[in-house]
Amino acid sequence: MALAPKAKGEGPIIEVRDIVAGFGDHVVLNHVDLDVHRGEVLGFVGGSGAGKSVLMRTIIGLVPKREGTIKVFGVDMDAATFDERQAVERRWGILFQQGALFSSLTVMENLQFPVREYLNVSQRLLDELAVAKLEMVGLDASVCDKLPSELSGGMTKRVALARALALDPEIVFLDEPTSGLDPIGAGDFDTLIATLQRTLGLTVFMVTHDLDSLHTVCNRIAVLFEGKVIATGTMAEMLASKHPWLISYFHGKRSRAGHAADFEARA
Ligand SMILES: Nc1ncnc2c1ncn2[C@@H]1O[C@H](COP(=O)(O)OP(=O)(O)O)[C@@H](O)[C@H]1O
Ligand SMILES: [Mg+2]
Repeated sequence: MALAPKAKGEGPIIEVRDIVAGFGDHVVLNHVDLDVHRGEVLGFVGGSGAGKSVLMRTIIGLVPKREGTIKVFGVDMDAATFDERQAVERRWGILFQQGALFSSLTVMENLQFPVREYLNVSQRLLDELAVAKLEMVGLDASVCDKLPSELSGGMTKRVALARALALDPEIVFLDEPTSGLDPIGAGDFDTLIATLQRTLGLTVFMVTHDLDSLHTVCNRIAVLFEGKVIATGTMAEMLASKHPWLISYFHGKRSRAGHAADFEARA
């Protein structure tokens, strides 16, 4: 049976092709290919130091690449003019692994920072937008005047997520959003991401170490190993893979299968 032709413009929302990037002699990404499709939550995994954050930062243009192309919304980010780039940047939100918030700015100022950069709107509207975004992530206006140092880890991540959503993005990049949270806090955050993804129709690129997040939130998983994306697919496909790294990661001690085996051994 012939497949229906794809609708025009229905290509990947992010298209990473043949990316080489590194620092000095250290090649971190060695010809990486990856597609992210509209509306999916892609979980991006790999060992510590594998280059997950580097790839995310390369896609958003913070790490220079040596080879390859990156298209976002079909726009080649190298060929784009300044205005075209800015138009693309305006359509994504980012939650960084470290320094999720500016420590010297209040929650309110943190939330308004990206909006001020791109939109010329009144202070009253900025305030209303900030409160609306806080409500989206399950916080209320009482945190507005707090400094990041006064927030718990979970609240900090929520404020950072609210900031990533400030400009009503279509794509959200999350770098290890649940790291540092206790399991319940991490579970709540996963639920929040899944709910927001559904209600807002977001596309989510999520770097994570968290196997629970991969099970509960991600539609598809991509694995970075030795500088390359060696596997992409559903959790079921990851569990069925015979690649040694995937076996130790998805069936190892920290995996659900690993926990179940431990539990049975103790019983
Ligand atoms: N700005 C930098 N300068 C030099 N080396 C870097 C820089 N950023 C990352 N690296 C190196 O690149 C590799 C991949 O880092 P990273 O992407 O942060 O790993 P992870 O997969 O844990 O997110 C690591 O070896 C790291 O030390
Ligand atoms: Mg990282």
